[in-house]
Amino acid sequence: MPPASFEQASPYKLAVFISGTGSNMQAIHHAILDGTLTNTELALVVSNKADALGLDYARQHLIPTFTLDAKEFDSPEDYDQVLLTELNALNIDFIALAGYLKILTPILTTAYEGRITNIHPSLLPAYGGKNMFGAKVHASVLANGEHFTGCTVHVVTDDIDSGPVLGQRTVPVLAEDTVERLAQRVQAEEHELYPAVLDSFINQAQPVSSIENY
Ligand code: GRF
Repeated sequence: MPPASFEQASPYKLAVFISGTGSNMQAIHHAILDGTLTNTELALVVSNKADALGLDYARQHLIPTFTLDAKEFDSPEDYDQVLLTELNALNIDFIALAGYLKILTPILTTAYEGRITNIHPSLLPAYGGKNMFGAKVHASVLANGEHFTGCTVHVVTDDIDSGPVLGQRTVPVLAEDTVERLAQRVQAEEHELYPAVLDSFINQAQPVSSIENY
């Protein structure tokens, strides 16, 4: 674990893992550029999909990228071992999962224990777990007639969507909401929440166990 210090000489190196659009990765990058996510360098964007849209943004902004196709590996552990070797080679300090649709194995969760975060489009523990991701989350929220939903940033452990919660934002569900409209409003909150939580988490300004509403 890197030492906590406000006088960190060189910024902490963050790797963001994506599988798709990468809008949260872009929000994190913007926050680094505008100085609201401090002491942090976006040192690597990892994708398990070679055609992930977010990779285009990373390349345009000269952020190093690393893609690995799971089909080339015998097991998820072999896959994560190659990833870990790359992360170590680049001295990556923290990992932020942002729409990464692949479950991490203990190879990574152990090596980076307490240093991996994820963003989830619901108020965990509600609407979390193995098959709860993307549009499915919002469709379930609407089907159940919920009045509120939101998004959660949490520490990643081997139990999916169950690690300590670092921050949440609440979003009201409106009568006229569709899955797409609700997803859009939740994502707008994600883009503010994730960089703010990462700033606290990476710089250890708050204990991991305290939940903040940013
Ligand atoms: C986000 O809505 C996040 O909550 C979920 O996956 C989505 C990723 O979107 N884990 P993007 O790739 O950051 O645009």
